[in-house]
Amino acid sequence: MESTRNRLIELLETSDKQFVSGQLLSEKLKISRSAIWKHMKELEKDGYHIEGISRKGYRIVKFPDKVSENTIQWGLGTNWLGKNIIHKTTTTTTQQLAHQAAQDNAEHGTIVIADEQTKGKGRMNRQWYSTKGKGIWMSIILRPNVLPIMAPQLTLLSATVLADAISEQTALTPKIKWPNDILINDQKTAGILTEMQAEQDQIQYVVIGLGINVNQITEDFDKDIQDKATSLHIQTGHKWNIKDFIQHVLKSFEESYDAFMENGFPEVKQKWESYGYRIGEQIKIKTLHKEWKAEFLGIAEDGALLTKTDKDEIKKIYSGEIEWFMKGEDDNAK
Ligand code: BTN
Repeated sequence: MESTRNRLIELLETSDKQFVSGQLLSEKLKISRSAIWKHMKELEKDGYHIEGISRKGYRIVKFPDKVSENTIQWGLGTNWLGKNIIHKTTTTTTQQLAHQAAQDNAEHGTIVIADEQTKGKGRMNRQWYSTKGKGIWMSIILRPNVLPIMAPQLTLLSATVLADAISEQTALTPKIKWPNDILINDQKTAGILTEMQAEQDQIQYVVIGLGINVNQITEDFDKDIQDKATSLHIQTGHKWNIKDFIQHVLKSFEESYDAFMENGFPEVKQKWESYGYRIGEQIKIKTLHKEWKAEFLGIAEDGALLTKTDKDEIKKIYSGEIEWFMKGEDDNAK
């Protein structure tokens, strides 16, 4: 059923706005003309505008903008990512749904996506504003055959995928602020939250939560973050098709993930550093008990933050927050 409908879309798509006769569709798909008509009605429910004229046939006049399991899957072009999609119009957080699905044995590559989250989660227990229909709120379930200590590498990989998607789809120049905030003109436009269920030497599953601010206007953000947050709409001055963006992100996520499994972390490291925010500058590193100053060199072969201390020692940092100095401020910093 599903594959017949996919095939039907393909046939209509490739005809490029020309009518395709009901006869031809029925021959190619080996189903009756009344079955074709029923499929057309289903497509219309999914937001396709289809023109049907007797003796001419059918053609698509408008593709759906809305996000649904079907609209994401049509024309997605991935091999394994997004074969199983759970879509909700509203939910608390897609992370929680993804954990539930993973515990119920959802397959590697399952996607949980929502138009709106009422309790969107950011890193460090922060809130993530997830306005209805204005962004991409999506969690990806992965079952990678790598050691749990390698999970942060997947987060860095995800950041490069989002940065790639933004720079390929828009004319913007995104930067990745360590470890995984995507900034445009110094304001945050996307973030990643990775959560994992693992034993000591085996990952059961990883949930990678991707939040991308797409079509918000400034007033959609809470007052206290309006100067720090941005969206593709704010930055480019026009709206973006969310469904197309999701498909682009999934396709490039799959390619990067497959390459990572094949070739390891070096390519991800190189790409991450090409987007790295303020590499080479002085940073303040804060952990629970300490705070110190160092030079930000990039990321290490294992994904850790690479720094050079005042005493010229190269140090890897695995957790903590980092801050940059304002211009001139670092001269006086300890
Ligand atoms: C951050 O930068 O703090 C991470 C933000 C992650 C937000 C995404 S939106 C989809 C998924 N569901 C959530 O509740 N959070 C992540």
